[in-house]
Amino acid sequence: MIVNTELENKGNLFPSKIINFKKDVDKLYFTAENDVILELTVVRDSLLRFRYTTVGNFDNDFSYAITKYASSGYNKLVIEDKKELFEITTSKLRCEILKSNMSVSIYDAKDGTLINQDEGGFHWEESYQHGGNIVKMSKTSNDGESYYGLGDKPNHLNLKGKRYSNWATDSYAYGKDTDPIYKAIPFYTGLHHGKAYGIFFDNTFRSTFDFAHERRNVTSFWAQGGEMNYYFFYGPKMNDVVESYTDLTGKPHQLPPLWALGFHQCKWSYYPENKVKEITSTFRELKIPCDAIYLDIDYMDGFRCFTWNKEYFPDPKRMVKELLDDGFKTVAIIDPGIKIDKDYSVFKEGLENDYFCKRADGDYMKGKVWPGECYFPDYTNPEVREWWSGLFQELIEDIGVKGVWNDMNEPAVMEVPNKTFPDDVRHDYDGNPCSHRKAHNIYGMQMARATYQGLKKYSYPKRPFVITRSAYSGTQRYTSTWTGDNVASWEHLWIANMQAQRMAMSGFSFAGSDIGGFAEQPQGELFTRWIQLGIFHPFFRVHSSGDHGDQEPWAFDEEVTDIVRKFIEIRYQLLPYLYTSFWNYVDHGTPILKSLVLYDQDDSQTHYRTDEFVFGEQILACPILEPNAKGRRMYLPQGLWYNFWTDDIIKGGKEMWVEADIDSMPIFVKEGAIIPKYPIQQYVGEKEITEITLDVYYKEGKEESELYSDANDGYDYTKGRYSLRNFTLRGKSNELIINQYKEGKFVTPYETFNVQFHGLPFDVVEVQLDNEKINIESLKVNGVTSIVVDKNFSELHILGITSKT
Ligand code: NOJ
Repeated sequence: MIVNTELENKGNLFPSKIINFKKDVDKLYFTAENDVILELTVVRDSLLRFRYTTVGNFDNDFSYAITKYASSGYNKLVIEDKKELFEITTSKLRCEILKSNMSVSIYDAKDGTLINQDEGGFHWEESYQHGGNIVKMSKTSNDGESYYGLGDKPNHLNLKGKRYSNWATDSYAYGKDTDPIYKAIPFYTGLHHGKAYGIFFDNTFRSTFDFAHERRNVTSFWAQGGEMNYYFFYGPKMNDVVESYTDLTGKPHQLPPLWALGFHQCKWSYYPENKVKEITSTFRELKIPCDAIYLDIDYMDGFRCFTWNKEYFPDPKRMVKELLDDGFKTVAIIDPGIKIDKDYSVFKEGLENDYFCKRADGDYMKGKVWPGECYFPDYTNPEVREWWSGLFQELIEDIGVKGVWNDMNEPAVMEVPNKTFPDDVRHDYDGNPCSHRKAHNIYGMQMARATYQGLKKYSYPKRPFVITRSAYSGTQRYTSTWTGDNVASWEHLWIANMQAQRMAMSGFSFAGSDIGGFAEQPQGELFTRWIQLGIFHPFFRVHSSGDHGDQEPWAFDEEVTDIVRKFIEIRYQLLPYLYTSFWNYVDHGTPILKSLVLYDQDDSQTHYRTDEFVFGEQILACPILEPNAKGRRMYLPQGLWYNFWTDDIIKGGKEMWVEADIDSMPIFVKEGAIIPKYPIQQYVGEKEITEITLDVYYKEGKEESELYSDANDGYDYTKGRYSLRNFTLRGKSNELIINQYKEGKFVTPYETFNVQFHGLPFDVVEVQLDNEKINIESLKVNGVTSIVVDKNFSELHILGITSKT
């Protein structure tokens, strides 16, 4: 039973008055007369956890989402027992709990602004059908409040006025209004009065969020079982909320290998071997950079995971090696459905060891997927995960496959009405046995986790690379993701943009769409525009269902090929910049894509913007989303921005028309930025990179930039063998100073920086490198002023005379 109307429902029950209060270090317990207990944990100064029970005691506290590495600890915790309320104060928050009904209000500790307030607060309905409760929470929605997050929802970035559910669902050719789709990420950020907070409802049952949809001034969320268990994060900066959530649910366990940030080509399916080779060699012939080639289900023997079709791929090890020699990393798909076949070793092992999911009455969970009838491993059992990870030994260690792609892990089942397991299927849930109602949303996550463990082990000393379709909060620790079976349409290009931004705001930056569209076929123009957007998505892959024609960069016409090449080349040039952003994401949880609202929440113009976003810290991009466009209108955030193509300097804080014919797109660079660039390579590691270009965008004033480098693979960086360069740029009307501060023990292969100046408002008369005058003749001025300097410089000082008008 799905309850659509949460508060109006007659069966709703509410806490009664608080009759007891107890403190246990950072946990506070408030007990009501009717046995409701609120457990409030002060996780950090700006992070509170609220947990409610209606039966007088709590279940085992277990979560797949929360990482043990999350930081905790507060600086200040004061609890006051006042006449009508309890008041809990940290250095960031003040939380009031009304004695009469347990209702919660949270304020900014410094200026007293009300950040978030219960409306109905916690309430519940007995679930007579399943047992337990349908647990609910309703909050006041403020005037002008906006909402963001929730993972892969394909609609407008701002969730206000909408209702969404979380129930991982295989959604072939979904549309803007399809809900739910593949992922379940019950986390959102609210923003009002210039302050942002976040709520993570850590409940894996089917949950629903209503953002002032049913009632104008109320935002509510509820789940079909389990506990009302949510975390409250306070910013007030949106970026801090997202970082805090990402810290709690886990940052990626390691950086991806750099090649994984290159371009990937995929199709359902490339086979046999000579077709795969034809594709890869065409990339090289046409000089279109590419790092990964994918094998979809047809590489298997009758769709049996961990097997090969020997007719199509007689010697996979040889092929994978030959591809690698040409710079291509092979990525293979692995699904959860294991074919029922008594001669198939994976099936036999699973059966003998009792690793497959079972129905409530003891029968196996049988369902049809590509191989026909299958059983499905219970990845929520740690022993099963261990077994599953071991299955990758041959594929990775022996054959040399470099990445694994987990599909159909919602889990998807064919020919049944609900497209997944029935509710009664049993799961171990790491020793907390439960039905599929509770385990459904984390099934894909646990599969990806087990796959990750296998890849981590067998790829060692290299880094693992995994992709998953389904995910719950925290999955970002293990894997990248894509947005599933989209469609080759202009609307889907818009959706892809929304989803990548939204995923980044939901702690999961390593995401991308099937470029060009999975279902149906794009025209060359759409494909080109999609590639243009795709170069800014951390996961950058073309994929298509293959039954509507080809979708390689050369499948359209020469103009398309040339433009696509040009944009992929830009991606490859920007790799050190993207890698630095990735490092920031892995280290601090900073989202790699920043929607305008996240970039500048103080500017209310940004709250409803959708298309523009900041890639990394300093590059603004805005895709062209319509056919036959010669440009578009877009909003440029406050500050001064350089047009990437022309170096024109434009003042932001306004909407404007930007020229962008088919061979261009609106890209801007923040003034003061120092953007590191590689030379163009056909794949990561093709060239030994001895020089990095630094594109320096003059600013009158100060700006900080960073460049992170390491061995591009392996784990040495975790032992201090990385190089982090902080650049501080200070510009005045007739001079520019760049200071560099270095950190880390990694000796970079590059020895020099080719510093290229953009927008210098003066003619250079003198250059000092670490206080020594250098020969100004070495300064090249053909369009761009540039100078080659040693990578370890401390100060680069450019002096000039103002002659330009
Ligand atoms: C569905 C996936 O979403 C798609 O990417 C894949 O190509 C097909 N399954 C076949 O494996």
